[in-house]
Amino acid sequence: NFTPNAFVEEMVGELKEKLGNDKVVLGLSGGVDSTVAAVLLNQAIGKNLYCIFVNNGLLRKNEFQNVLDQYKGMGLNVKGVDAGDRFLSELAGISDPETKRKTIGRVFIEVFDDESHLIEDVKWLAQGTIYPDVIESVSVKGPSATIKSHHNVGGLPDYMKLKIVEPLRMLFKDEVRRVGATLGIDPELLGRHPFPGPGLSIRILGDITPEKVQILQDVDSVFIEGLKSWGLYDKVWQAGAILLPVNSVGVMGDERTYEKVVALRAVESTDGMTADWVHLPYDFLMKVSNDIINKVKGVNRVVYDISSKPPATIEWE
Ligand code: XMP
Repeated sequence: NFTPNAFVEEMVGELKEKLGNDKVVLGLSGGVDSTVAAVLLNQAIGKNLYCIFVNNGLLRKNEFQNVLDQYKGMGLNVKGVDAGDRFLSELAGISDPETKRKTIGRVFIEVFDDESHLIEDVKWLAQGTIYPDVIESVSVKGPSATIKSHHNVGGLPDYMKLKIVEPLRMLFKDEVRRVGATLGIDPELLGRHPFPGPGLSIRILGDITPEKVQILQDVDSVFIEGLKSWGLYDKVWQAGAILLPVNSVGVMGDERTYEKVVALRAVESTDGMTADWVHLPYDFLMKVSNDIINKVKGVNRVVYDISSKPPATIEWE
């Protein structure tokens, strides 16, 4: 029986003892896990925790600035690094999902490594790894190999020579949220849907361009804001939009259009290992489809993904 209060007390004590006066660097992602890990470490070691929040250019619309402001408001010692152009230029021309992940993982490590070298005498790397990450990264090394290489686990190059501290390693997602609530983290932040490390890159099927990223950010924003205003956001475990690599024919006035198709995905799940598509109300789907097609230039068709996991996965890549 998990009690968040006891966990916090015990873990803060353990971290204090383990880390002493050492400096620790942590990459914030904007997600629940790294945020809870940061606040926990902040309680234990305060300003010796150096947080780095990297914009990989593949975050949701306005997310980098909004979340950075939120972190600062929480009193975290955080530096925002806007590396969007660097990621997007390294990704140019790449369509293969695993190559996208590997490229993002590599560039992230390069950016992060540069930043952590600026912190004098840093000894530890903290990560917001949670239990399902540990299991999935073990299973992808098994016989059915390399289905997906979740780059947030084990991606540390030797030359960084940092010791690793992972305070949430034994927790499931719902436990992490409860710990976050005990720590006084904004419920809206704690209720955020999971979002993959490679961000929108794996929701743009085919190659990635800045224009496609912007289209998908706009579509995603209409969808997510719609879920919030209809009171559906908290009923869904994860939602997002996928930009398909096909054009379809449409009409606008007297004109024939030939534009992009987007798919919407919303799933119910407890841990992401299995998932069911959510039966969103038809009225909502109608409204959000109209809004997307009217507001986002370059999109003329919206479809809804009605596949469950397994055999489908949550992401399309
Ligand atoms: P799938 O698509 O495997 O996704 O059903 C399960 C959960 O994992 C997330 N996901 C990722 N998270 N790096 C991440 O940090 C990745 O490469 C990655 N691929 C999938 C996905 O969003 C879902 O929550």
